[in-house]
Amino acid sequence: MINTLNKIIHGRQSVYPKSFSGEIISVDLINEILDNANQAPSHKHTEPWRFHVITPKSKLAFIKFAQDAYTSYTHPDNFKGNKFDKIPKKINLSSHILMISMHRNEDSGLPEWEEVAAVATAIQNIYLTLTALSLGGYWSSPQYIITHANKFFDMHENEKCLGLFYIGVPQGELPPKPQKKPIGEKVTWY
Ligand SMILES: Cc1cc2nc3c(=O)[nH]c(=O)nc-3n(C[C@H](O)[C@H](O)[C@H](O)COP(=O)(O)O)c2cc1C
Repeated sequence: MINTLNKIIHGRQSVYPKSFSGEIISVDLINEILDNANQAPSHKHTEPWRFHVITPKSKLAFIKFAQDAYTSYTHPDNFKGNKFDKIPKKINLSSHILMISMHRNEDSGLPEWEEVAAVATAIQNIYLTLTALSLGGYWSSPQYIITHANKFFDMHENEKCLGLFYIGVPQGELPPKPQKKPIGEKVTWY
């Protein structure tokens, strides 16, 4: 079992929409991925992760929202036409896109960072499940989406957007996996 786990953890990499085929993944598989996300740890069992799923039928509306959000968030001097044009391409090459959010439970007495950290562990479960399924995806955190998310998604007042997770079917050879600096540089033993 540990060999399988090591292989999945070491084989995980962010796969970007430019490497997706555009093929659509079954709802059953998307549910399996989300159910694995739901097995993440959380202090006091707050389970603060929330997912809003863009399915193929919502892509057109989401493209419009994302392009409008980019335009209104970006100062005209910083507006990049190629970034604006990439928005529909990335969305259309993806199968599903998750809007990731954190549901803040004020009554828990927990600091916000613990709730954000719990959501991040759920996202790692998504990354690992995609790797095991030979699917691809990555966590994207554009500020224009984060700022305007509540204009598109039906969010609770205690929910905070933490970005998007693009999911798709990889095609062709993937770019090389970024190599991590050795763990020895990041550990202090006592
Ligand atoms: C919280 C978080 C936010 C991220 N946001 C972005 C992003 O906005 N754009 C992007 O290209 N990658 C984003 N990434 C993915 C990283 O770029 C990626 O994890 C990094 O390059 C390491 O590559 P790997 O995931 O293949 O190990 C994000 C990752 C995390 C954990």
